[in-house]
Amino acid sequence: MAESHDLPLLRLPRAAQAALVAGARDNEPVRGLTHNFYKYPARFSPIFARAAIEAFTQPGDLVLDNHVGGGTTLVEALATGRHAIGVDISALAEFVASVKTMVFTEAELDRLQAWARCLPSAIQVRKSSIYFADEAELGYYKHLGHPSRWRLRKAIEQGLGAAIRLATPRLESFGRCVVLRTAQWALDSRSSCLRSPNSGTCCRRPAPRWWRAPASCAPPSTLTVTSRRSASSTARALASKTTNACCTARCRGWS
Ligand SMILES: C[S@@+](CC[C@H](N)C(=O)[O-])C[C@H]1O[C@@H](n2cnc3c(N)ncnc32)[C@H](O)[C@@H]1O
Repeated sequence: MAESHDLPLLRLPRAAQAALVAGARDNEPVRGLTHNFYKYPARFSPIFARAAIEAFTQPGDLVLDNHVGGGTTLVEALATGRHAIGVDISALAEFVASVKTMVFTEAELDRLQAWARCLPSAIQVRKSSIYFADEAELGYYKHLGHPSRWRLRKAIEQGLGAAIRLATPRLESFGRCVVLRTAQWALDSRSSCLRSPNSGTCCRRPAPRWWRAPASCAPPSTLTVTSRRSASSTARALASKTTNACCTARCRGWS
């Protein structure tokens, strides 16, 4: 009798089975294409998603992801020449997935890169910002109301204002995603590091320069923004994220 690992898996060719198994075992940090435009929780491994798409579909087929999450499957589907459609119960997931799968024209990418170059001058602590009252009512200012966080709040408001001034829905969505991604760490209220269960040492990479947690790895409610240069650092981070994202968009080579 054949060993269990010799049994055919869904009658797939051996190479496809091996790719699926390797993808399922993949525990490398997610990277490539537009995957890191936003770090959605519980993301699929893009290697697994690609192996599944290649095993079960042909170029030109339509891939449906009805739990789209961060859009990993849709991005991989597009990159392998499939059509892709997705839906999610979460508006955030749908927003992020739609931005990650946008295919921009050269003219749009030029506009975004010019926008990125101007961002540092739009995000200045001495300039005014828009207060987004509707968003505040919906709870999007959570954790940003503390007096120590006004610089961060202002930088986010100015970044969003700059995104809105891009004045087309596609470009504005991209701009909003850049702000979201840059501020994600703060918006998620993550501490700068986690205690490793074994060694007790901090195992996360350091927080962005414009946001500092107390050295004690204290819980989110005690996070404070201490950098006086937070707004300008945020502006530089936003500009660099946009430039990187534009480069990714240019080079990603959708089929
Ligand atoms: C692990 S993520 C999916 C990852 C995604 N397939 C990818 O390729 O990156 C799970 C998603 O399922 C969504 N979800 C949970 N229940 C749902 C439902 N009833 N209808 C639609 N989406 C749902 C969650 O909001 C979450 O975004």
